[in-house]
Amino acid sequence: MPAISASAPGKVILFGEHAVVYGRPALAVPIFEVQAKAIVMADPRATPGTVRIQAPGIDLDAPLAELPDQDPIAVAIKNVLATLNISRAPAFTLRITSTIPIAAGLGSGAAVSVAVIRALSTFLGSPLVAEQVSALAYEVEKIHHGTPSGIDNTVITYGKPVYFKRHNSDRVTLEVFGIRRPFRLVIADSGIPSPTAEVVAEVRQRWQVAKPAYERLFDEIGAIVEAARQAIEKGYVERLGALMNENQRLLDEMGVSSPQLERLICAARQAGASGAKLSGAGRGGNMIALVSDETAEVVMQALQQAGARRIILTTVSQR
Ligand code: MEV
Repeated sequence: MPAISASAPGKVILFGEHAVVYGRPALAVPIFEVQAKAIVMADPRATPGTVRIQAPGIDLDAPLAELPDQDPIAVAIKNVLATLNISRAPAFTLRITSTIPIAAGLGSGAAVSVAVIRALSTFLGSPLVAEQVSALAYEVEKIHHGTPSGIDNTVITYGKPVYFKRHNSDRVTLEVFGIRRPFRLVIADSGIPSPTAEVVAEVRQRWQVAKPAYERLFDEIGAIVEAARQAIEKGYVERLGALMNENQRLLDEMGVSSPQLERLICAARQAGASGAKLSGAGRGGNMIALVSDETAEVVMQALQQAGARRIILTTVSQR
């Protein structure tokens, strides 16, 4: 049996992180410059049901049976087997590699889940459709994040720009939106790992003690998301910079920025980016800056000088 592989891109949230956990909309796009890959290889000589997991990036090489019950990779595998009603799969080795930095706001956890779910269901002869892939990856996200909105697994599964809104535990609005004029983003890593679950939990604590203030912040962010979607769909890219800056101001007010992120954001703006903000959970991880062909190089240099660890230049387009 040939090896089966599947890959999944990273993502950035353009607008609306955190507020999206509280029912407001957000916009996210896939980032194909980084990706997670899963390869499933049959082990015909091993006893059926034997599963080995290899993920060299996190120093993992172990039988599935030895992973903790709540291990995200173990949960992804078990969920696929349960969905396909398979109690004893043919023996296989699952190898996972990823170029998406971990705990950096680029969706590494969701991308690994999506790649594993796709590769394994295909290996088992029943490739799952996008809706099922996203739903199973969402279950794994709950382990990573506690109370995820579901935007990460959605944008990564569909691989398209998405407008996403969660109405309640099982109803979401998912719309692929058009990009009338491509635009360029620089994505820069502060180098500070920031587990999403922790930052999301802190925001929840603060929301619990100051609900009206936080609801107002979430509403203002929701309005920015709607304006940004319109601007992107109509090709008014020049409006996005100010909207990014405004979204950043509200994220800072929410308490999820950090001196390191602020340093990168200021450096990008001073070097000519028309807007910049953190992307993802914040506190550490990545920021994004809106650049033109003329400013891209200078902004990347400024970010490097300001201490960015890893810089990606990408074009957001319809593909
Ligand atoms: C994480 O990429 C985005 C957050 O809004 C969390 C979530 O939506 O689950 C911070």
